[in-house]
Amino acid sequence: MAKIIDGKKISTEIKQELKEKVAAYKEQGIEITLAVVKVGNDPASAVYVRNKEKACEYVGIKSRTLALPEETTEEELLNIVEELNQDKTVNGILVQLPLPKHIDESKILLAIDSRKDVDGFHPVNVGKMVIGEDTFLPCTPAGIIEMLKRSNIEIAGKECVVIGRSNIVGKPMSMLMLKENATVTMTHSKTKDLKEVTKRGDILIAAIGKAKFVTAEYVKEGAVVIDVGMDRDENGKLCGDVDFASVEPKTLAITPVPGGVGPMTVTMLLVNCLRSVELNK
Ligand code: GUN
Repeated sequence: MAKIIDGKKISTEIKQELKEKVAAYKEQGIEITLAVVKVGNDPASAVYVRNKEKACEYVGIKSRTLALPEETTEEELLNIVEELNQDKTVNGILVQLPLPKHIDESKILLAIDSRKDVDGFHPVNVGKMVIGEDTFLPCTPAGIIEMLKRSNIEIAGKECVVIGRSNIVGKPMSMLMLKENATVTMTHSKTKDLKEVTKRGDILIAAIGKAKFVTAEYVKEGAVVIDVGMDRDENGKLCGDVDFASVEPKTLAITPVPGGVGPMTVTMLLVNCLRSVELNK
């Protein structure tokens, strides 16, 4: 029987630890504030932002959400980011992605002060992560590492296969697994014989964005499978990139959707808000 890795439970444990740290800061007169900027009306983004607000509230971090209209210009958004950069009461800045098409995402991410970049998306922080310097780590990959460690799953020396090469998940995930001494293979839509490659993975991480794409034939017997997907199945029901029903019996451990990686991502954002205070002391 596969172990079901309970991301909700692990993230609750971490949030309890964070609550105590936030309270200790409060006693020293330090309030932590996260500014979240949302542009437009993407329904998924609205849910994500609400979850981030709730998580902040839970641990005692102040959240300030700026919900801007779809028509917001790039210049207006850059000005808002600059105001938040200058605002000494703001510790972390997060601009929810995706942004409307008329705004250049990379320009906005570059404008965020790298010392307040709690998403870990600023090129300076990406660079620091790659060379192993202490900095903000992107929330989803960092959450997966934390989840594996807290589930006592050994990473060093293991074959890790990552499916997907996005800047938010696939690429940083591969770097963080490498830092943990896994042997890492990055795969993507142009990979030849994908199933043969993914079957090498002792740890298989699916971040493709296609509902139930990973079926049993992609998975090695006894693998640990991490599902980053947040997709909808043919009935509109939330599901992952992994076909849980067919894959689960083959695995040693697997994350469900929902209740796996998702809660960890939000929790690592809180971790980064605290790191912001520590890194900027
Ligand atoms: N959109 C989807 N995931 C993320 C994330 O981790 N951070 C931000 N800013 N936007 C996202």
